[in-house]
Amino acid sequence: MREPRAVFTNLRPGSVALMVGDSDLFGTIGVPPADVSLFHYTSKKVHSSATHLTFPADATAPDTLHPLFEAAVGVVPKTSAIHFQIDLLLVGSGGDQLLPLLIPYLHPGAQIASEMALADLGNAECLNGWFVYRPMREKWDVPFAKMSAEEKKWIAQNVANIPARGSYLEIGSYKGGSAVVAALANSNITIFCLDPWAAYSDKDRTAISADYTVFLRHTQFFPNIVPIRIDIEKPEEGPQLVAKSMGVPLEEMTIDMLFIDGDHSLKGVFTDLCIYPPYTSGLISGHDYKHIAEVRKAVDMFYTDSKFKRAFMALCPLRLWHTRLQSIFRPTHVALVAEKRNSIWYLYGAAADNQGNQ
Ligand SMILES: C[S@@+](CC[C@H](N)C(=O)[O-])C[C@H]1O[C@@H](n2cnc3c(N)ncnc32)[C@H](O)[C@@H]1O
Repeated sequence: MREPRAVFTNLRPGSVALMVGDSDLFGTIGVPPADVSLFHYTSKKVHSSATHLTFPADATAPDTLHPLFEAAVGVVPKTSAIHFQIDLLLVGSGGDQLLPLLIPYLHPGAQIASEMALADLGNAECLNGWFVYRPMREKWDVPFAKMSAEEKKWIAQNVANIPARGSYLEIGSYKGGSAVVAALANSNITIFCLDPWAAYSDKDRTAISADYTVFLRHTQFFPNIVPIRIDIEKPEEGPQLVAKSMGVPLEEMTIDMLFIDGDHSLKGVFTDLCIYPPYTSGLISGHDYKHIAEVRKAVDMFYTDSKFKRAFMALCPLRLWHTRLQSIFRPTHVALVAEKRNSIWYLYGAAADNQGNQ
C-alpha cells in the first residue's frame, strides 16, 4: 500500500477524500490535486482546503451523512442506492464512530488511513504514523458495476481462473464497474477495456455514454487495467488496437476471456461476435441476453444454426467475411448464468476448464 499522502496527491480528477474526526496527521496530507473534493466532518479544527461538515451529536443517526451527500452530489438521495464513492478516508479521534455508515460508500480499491488502530478492519500496515487499511468487502462488491450481485460474482469467479500473465478483454467498460470486478478478482492478469467513451449515434437504442474521467477515476487503484479508446464508427480496428496495447503482433494475440457489453444493437453485438472470438482461447461471454431482445437475437443467430444466421451473415459487410467460416464452425451451445434476474450469456465448450464451478 502507498503512504496516504502519496495516494492523496495522486488522486484523479473527480475523486472524493474525506477526513472524519480530528488529528494532527490531517495537517500533513497536503493540498488536494485539481478537481478532487476534500471534505471534513469535524467539531473544531478545519483543514484550509476542505469543505467543513458539522460533526453530528449522534453519529449513528440516519441523517448523519446528509451533509456529505449534499456537499458531494447536491442532494440527499431518496433511496439507499449508493451514488458516489469515497476514494480516501482519513480517520482521526472520534471519527471511528462514523465508520459503519461510511463503509458502504468506500470505493472497493480505496484506502482507509487512521491515527489509531481500528477494530474490525483486519490487519493494518503502518506507514508514516498512519494505520492503513483496505475496505473489508466481498471482492466482487463493486457498486458502480451495472449488473446484479450474481453476475459480478460470476465474472469474478471466472476471471480468477485466468492464469498469471493472461488477459481479459471487455468490449464496453462504461464507468469501469465490470473492469474493477475483474481487477479485484485477479491482479496477475491484464484487464483490457475497449470503449469509445463518447456520445454516439442512435444506432444503438440502449446506448449510454460515459465520461472517460469517471472511468479513469474508478479504475485508479488498479495498475493492471488498461483502457483502449476505439472509434465507434470503426469497430474493425479493435483487434489491432488491443494487440498494440498487448505489445504483440495481431497474429500472436490471445485473449483468455472475452466479455461483450458494448454496442447492444443487433448489428453491434453481431459485429463484436464476428470480430473477437477468433482471437479468444478461453471463455466467450457477454451481458444483457435476457433483458435486451437485440442482444439475444444476435447471440442466438451467431451460435445457433439457423437460416437467419446464414442470411444475416450474407448481408454482413465484406470486412467481416474472413471470420465467416470460423463462426459457422464454432460450438453452438449458449448458456446463461443460472438465476432468474441474471443476464450473462456464455459459450460453454469454449473453455471447459473455466466452467467447472458453474
Ligand atoms: C452497458 S455499458 C458497459 C457496462 C460495463 N461493462 C459495466 O458492467 O460496468 C456499455 C458501454 O459500451 C460502450 N460502447 C458502445 N458501443 C461500443 C462499441 N462499438 N465498442 C466498444 N464499446 C462500445 C459505451 O460507450 C458504454 O460505455
